[in-house]
Amino acid sequence: MSQKNSRIVLVTGGAGFVGSHAVLVLLEEGYSVIVVDNLVNAYKAENEELPESLIRVMKLTGKSLIFYNINLCDKNALKEVFSKHKIGCVMHFAALKAVGESCTIPLTYYSNNITGSIILFEVMKEAGVKNLVYSSSSTVYGNPQFLPLTETHPTGQGCTNPYGKSKYFVEEILKDLASSDKSWKVISLRYFNPVGAHPSGDIGEDPAGIPNNLMPYISQVAVGRQPKLLVYGNDYETHDGTGVRDYIHIMDLAEGHNYALKKLFSQDFSGFKAYNLGTGCGYSVLDVVKAFSAASGRKIAYDIVGRREGDIASSYCDSTLAFKELGWKANRLLTDMCADAWRWQSKNPNGFQ
Ligand code: UFG
Repeated sequence: MSQKNSRIVLVTGGAGFVGSHAVLVLLEEGYSVIVVDNLVNAYKAENEELPESLIRVMKLTGKSLIFYNINLCDKNALKEVFSKHKIGCVMHFAALKAVGESCTIPLTYYSNNITGSIILFEVMKEAGVKNLVYSSSSTVYGNPQFLPLTETHPTGQGCTNPYGKSKYFVEEILKDLASSDKSWKVISLRYFNPVGAHPSGDIGEDPAGIPNNLMPYISQVAVGRQPKLLVYGNDYETHDGTGVRDYIHIMDLAEGHNYALKKLFSQDFSGFKAYNLGTGCGYSVLDVVKAFSAASGRKIAYDIVGRREGDIASSYCDSTLAFKELGWKANRLLTDMCADAWRWQSKNPNGFQ
C-alpha cells in the first residue's frame, strides 16, 4: 500500500443510485470519500456545487466529501485527482446502464463503459493504486444454464446487449490485469436487481425519463406519474407466468461494498474475485406489484402485454460465496424494499428536482 491511505476511497459514479448509497455507507464507516461523476444520470441544481444526491448524503451522515465533475475518458483530469489525494482504493460504478438504449447507441456504451474503465485502470496503475471494487452485474451470466446462479456459471455467453457485454468485457480486462501483475487486488460484485431506497426516503432511484426498470416504474404508477404498468409477458415458465428476479435492497447492496473493501485489504486476498450480491429469493412481477400495493396502500393498475425482447424467465442467485468469504448477506425483505422505495417516491414525487 506504500504511502497510500486505505481509508481514502475514490468512488466513480458516486452521484448515481447505487453509488450514492455506497458513498453513504462509506462515510458512515469513517472512510474519506472522493466522488468522480460526470452527472450524466444525476441532477445538480445550477446554484449548487454538488449533485443533489450527494448534498443529501452529506446531510444524512453529517460528513463531507469531495466531488469532481469529471468524465472518466478525460485522462488528464483524472490524473490530477490521483495526484492531489492519497487514494487507497477505487470503487468503480460509473457506467451507462440502460439495456435498450445500449442496443441503439453501442459505441457510446462501449466508449463510456469500456474505454472509460481502461483509462481509469491506466491512471490507477500509474498512481500505484491497485485496489479496486468493480460494479458488475448478473447480466454477465446471460440466459441462466442453471439456477440458482453461482459464480462458477459461465459468463459472457448469451449476453444479448452492449450494456451486458460491456460489464463482461471489463471483468475480462480486470482478470487479465490481475494475472499480469500480482499486486492488483480486484473484487467484482455482480448485482442482481437493486431496488428500494435509504430508509430516510431522502435518497433513492431517480431515473431520467420513463423508467426502464420494474420497481421505479411501479413507484411512478403509485404516485400518479405513470397511468399503468405494462407487464411484459405472463407465459414464462414461472409460478405465475411473469418474469422472476432476485430483488436486493439497495442498502444491503451498499453494505456489501463495505464488506468487499474489508476483504480487499485483508492479508489473504489477492488477484481477481467475483461475488454475487443478491438475496437468493426470486419474486415475479406480480409478486412485486402485490407487495408494492400493500406497502403503499395504492392500487397498481397494470396490463399484461407481450414479452420484452431480451428478457429471460428467471434469474436468482446463490450468494453463499459472499457470505463465506466476505461475511456479507442480504437482510432486508421485499416488504422493506417496497416500503423504502415508496417512502422515497412519495416524499420526492419528482425525484431530486
Ligand atoms: N418488467 C415489466 N414491466 C416493466 C419493467 C419490467 O413487466 O415496465 C419486468 C421485466 O420483464 C422483468 C422484470 O420486470 O421480468 C424485471 O425487469 P427490470 O427491467 O427491472 O430488470 P432486469 O432484470 O431486466 O434488468 C436489471 C437491469 C440490468 C441488470 C439486471 C441484472 O436493468 O441492467 O437487472 O442486474 F443487468
